[in-house]
Amino acid sequence: MKAPVRVAVTGAAGQIGYSLLFRIASGEMLGKDQPVILQLLDLPQAQTAVKGVMMELEDCAFPLLAGMIATDDPNVAFKDAQVALLVGARPRSKGMERKDLLEANGAIFTVQGKALNDHADRNVKVLVVGNPANTNAYIAMKSAPDLDPKNFTAMLRLDHNRALSQLAAKTGTAVSDIEHMLVWGNHSPTMYADYRFATVNGESLKAKINDEAWNRDVFLPTVGKRGAAIIEARGLSSAASAANAAIDHIHDWVLGTNGKWVTMGIPSDGSYGIPEGVMYGFPVVCENGEYTIVQGLEIDEFSRERMNLTLAELEEERAGVAHLL
Ligand code: NAI
Repeated sequence: MKAPVRVAVTGAAGQIGYSLLFRIASGEMLGKDQPVILQLLDLPQAQTAVKGVMMELEDCAFPLLAGMIATDDPNVAFKDAQVALLVGARPRSKGMERKDLLEANGAIFTVQGKALNDHADRNVKVLVVGNPANTNAYIAMKSAPDLDPKNFTAMLRLDHNRALSQLAAKTGTAVSDIEHMLVWGNHSPTMYADYRFATVNGESLKAKINDEAWNRDVFLPTVGKRGAAIIEARGLSSAASAANAAIDHIHDWVLGTNGKWVTMGIPSDGSYGIPEGVMYGFPVVCENGEYTIVQGLEIDEFSRERMNLTLAELEEERAGVAHLL
């Protein structure tokens, strides 16, 4: 039996937590032969709810669940963590300005970044799900100067998966047959899902669709505003699909993509003219626990415009939290 991997999850009592934890414990994230120890963080007032989730986890009798703890102290939750899923965040409340939202989350992610810096495993893989995800990941990364910045990532996988499903539906094909699709930028309606390089069973997806107006007027707004559409329909924000995307993100990062492209929000290395350090969605392939940006893609005028738009939003967010760092 392999040694258990310590997985820290914040916001453990929340909606996403309720979909996520059971799948981690069942082995869907790190493999069916990989035991895990869950280290659950939530606010003091949510500790009873976390205990309830732990009771249910116990009642599943997962063979791979080697232990779990609940705490309201990030220093305890991140102790020796090898994977950290930062899901808990301050939601936007009525009348709250974007600036206030950034400020409130800045307070959370500076503290959690520092706790990771001081207590986590030196190779901890961090995924930030809590919104604004890219900027929260940026704050955590900047608050953890002793950890490799490459190990801080933001979740763009839900946008990626949403785009794949829309493309499959449009072309009457299977999601699993589509390759080389990617999403650039921020996890926000400005994200740019780009299928110019995508193929379906080896055939060009763009040629098959052959409809630029659909791309611009239907596809991009549908993917960009999908979160709002789900709130409208369900009365609650997307949770199971967000948890699923988090599982996909970490699964692929740790276990590899076998050459397949996936989208991860990562600190830019300057590729494609995106300034170094900006937490930006890029196409990557993963192997041996490392991601590599797919290089050499041609950027046309429309794409550059869209990539710059989502970059400008990220730079504005970054400027909004600069005083916290
Ligand atoms: P939720 O409100 O159901 O749960 C959030 C949980 O986080 C609560 O239990 C709360 O007590 C906890 N929490 C708040 N501050 C915390 C802190 N400082 N430390 C630890 N725990 C804390 O929210 P839900 O639906 O689970 O969503 C969580 C986050 O994920 C939200 O910010 C949401 O906007 C974001 N999200 C991101 C997506 C993405 O694609 N990146 C997709 C969907 C949601």
